[in-house]
Amino acid sequence: MTKPEVIAQLVPKRLPAPKKTVTAFAPSNIALCKYWGKRDAELNLPTAPSLSISLGRLGSEVTLTPCADHDRYTLNGRRLLPECVFARRASAFFDLFRPHKQFFLEVVARNTIPTAAGLASSASGFAALTLALNDLLGWKLDRRKLSILARLGSGSACRSLFEGFVEWRVGKAADGLDSFAEPLPTRWPDLRVGLVVLSKQEKPIGSRDAMAHTRATSPLYAAWPATVERDFAALKEAIRRRDFTRLGELAEGNALAMHATMLAARPAVVYCLPESLEAMQAVRALRADGCEVYFTMDAGPNLKLLFRKPDLRGIVKRFPEVQVVAPFA
Ligand code: PMV
Repeated sequence: MTKPEVIAQLVPKRLPAPKKTVTAFAPSNIALCKYWGKRDAELNLPTAPSLSISLGRLGSEVTLTPCADHDRYTLNGRRLLPECVFARRASAFFDLFRPHKQFFLEVVARNTIPTAAGLASSASGFAALTLALNDLLGWKLDRRKLSILARLGSGSACRSLFEGFVEWRVGKAADGLDSFAEPLPTRWPDLRVGLVVLSKQEKPIGSRDAMAHTRATSPLYAAWPATVERDFAALKEAIRRRDFTRLGELAEGNALAMHATMLAARPAVVYCLPESLEAMQAVRALRADGCEVYFTMDAGPNLKLLFRKPDLRGIVKRFPEVQVVAPFA
């Protein structure tokens, strides 16, 4: 199944030429139970479910204005070259909806999360682009369908269509119409996410290639989908019961298990820097001292901390540069 075949099932066929300017925002999301491995690389269909938390007002805002000749991009006030990764991926995404290049777009994107925060902006970026296209082209699609379309741009983008805790259903269908994200009903006002930036260096390999390489070569990958199924079910239950200890242990264990599959890939995919390991030790030491904090880590060296509001002071003391997000505020 190809992306255009899926899109033909979701998006109205004859649409008026876009005229207006539209703006849309979508939050970043951090996975507590990770998406790592695709059963279908064309459609970004996962091998297992995943669960994330959205970061409120931190994310991407995009403005689209129809223009002549070619797409133009500005990110955080700077013009981008058409060859850069973001511009190429976004134009390829637009091409899915304009097979004959019927229109071009001026894209002004702003990340409300500092780019230096070391957070992937592709999830919030593709979610915001999808929301903006829905408005620009008058699709009038619901969030579930938009989540499916955003997934075609970047897998984890399907979760950025929603606030709070979000699950991504793995689905079974070849066309992926049953693989979309949905919000969980639990709100958890005193939950906090801390962003700890340890390096701003370019990462050695992007998540897309690292995922495929791990799945193809890591002897530990065979155990991963079943691990995720278990962690996913247990995490949902921990969230439902507001059991923070369980949530933290599961999120930390799941992130380390994902990195273990990468370390065993041949050649290994190593995102950890010495600073990452040091920060992990610091989190464990804080915990031993009674400050209940856990970490998770994605395809990069930076840590994301999970804690509750009363523990903020102890965390800021050890990580003075931490950027704190209140996802339910
Ligand atoms: O959606 P992608 O291709 O950027 O992959 C995201 C992969 C992780 O961030 C490591 C895990 C996740 O579930 O977000």
